[in-house]
Amino acid sequence: MARSLHDGFGRSINYLRISVTDKCNYRCVYCMPEKGVPPRDHAELLTAEEIARFVSLVAAEGITRVRLTGGEPLVSHRIVPLIEEIRAIPQIEDIALTTNGALLPRMAPELRGAGLDRVNISLDTLDPARFSQITRLGRVEQALAGIDAALAHGFHPVKVNTVVVRRMRQDVLELAKLSLDRPVHVRFIEYMPIGSTASAPAGERSSCRAMAAEQELDARLWDASDVVPSDELRERISTEAAAAGIGELEPVDAAPYGAGPARYWAFPGAAGTVGFISAMSNHFCSSCNRLRLTADGQLRPCLFSDAEHQVRDALRAGDDDAVLARYREALACKPQQHDRIDGTARLMSQIGG
Ligand code: 5AD
Ligand code: SF4
Repeated sequence: MARSLHDGFGRSINYLRISVTDKCNYRCVYCMPEKGVPPRDHAELLTAEEIARFVSLVAAEGITRVRLTGGEPLVSHRIVPLIEEIRAIPQIEDIALTTNGALLPRMAPELRGAGLDRVNISLDTLDPARFSQITRLGRVEQALAGIDAALAHGFHPVKVNTVVVRRMRQDVLELAKLSLDRPVHVRFIEYMPIGSTASAPAGERSSCRAMAAEQELDARLWDASDVVPSDELRERISTEAAAAGIGELEPVDAAPYGAGPARYWAFPGAAGTVGFISAMSNHFCSSCNRLRLTADGQLRPCLFSDAEHQVRDALRAGDDDAVLARYREALACKPQQHDRIDGTARLMSQIGG
């Protein structure tokens, strides 16, 4: 098996996250503008064949794990053949997908058949009215049916991603309780300043203003006061759970597969776990093993850095050596850590969550 290439700081890079489309069937208030992202010229976007070609090239350089993201990857018409093509690459050990779950009940069988190993489902609240408010276009039953479909079709492990935003006042205990009788791993993610320098009006960029509770969330107006540190959140969930007779969260020894930067806990006797991803309060840059590929063919060494390395033209030209040169260049340029938390120009849906 190929040894993974290392970046300039000795980190072994084996994980590629691919945004297959920047479109989405939802418009979550903290992620997308109400009208969606501006439509792109088709020619700017990588085709499924180009993506699969790229994966086969970097697999020989030590990439063994792939995650397909968006936007919403299941709105891409080519997602099933893309998974089939990636599955056929011998070095790839793990293919995962991040989805809002809405299309999973319909698509789970063909995704499984194509060779997808596992899914992460985004779910920010169980309250039907709040869910519709946050996603603008979604219904909570869709996400719940998506989780059930994922479990029923043998995806493993099934993880739930909740982005916690203080102003959204989410029902975090109810979400954590999904892990009680289902073998799901509910992960709470600190809200990150993604897309916050996109086109926010001057003077309204992120800072440390406490945002008025009634002001609508906007991905371009990320505010530090909206970040709920994982430690605070875990204590809150634990205390509320103890008061409800469930018992406190306890650290778990064996984290689910692909644990990455999450830290896992569990309620006593629960079927699943509760994880915390401290993207803001505790940087995990020193163990970062990933690279991102955007839908328009830019390699992005760090989520928080707008530095990108274009591979689309080399892929289109069929110039494998140039593709690999770009890949190695991106790896060599991966920053040691991100010191800026003032945001990125692209939205999460344009980078790949
Ligand atoms: N901070 C953290 N997570 C985010 N996501 C989207 N925007 C942000 C943000 N600013 C998450 C979505 C989904 C995944 C694609 O990225 O909720 O789980
Ligand atoms: Fe779509 Fe996920 Fe962004 Fe919501 S958070 S708009 S579901 S990509």
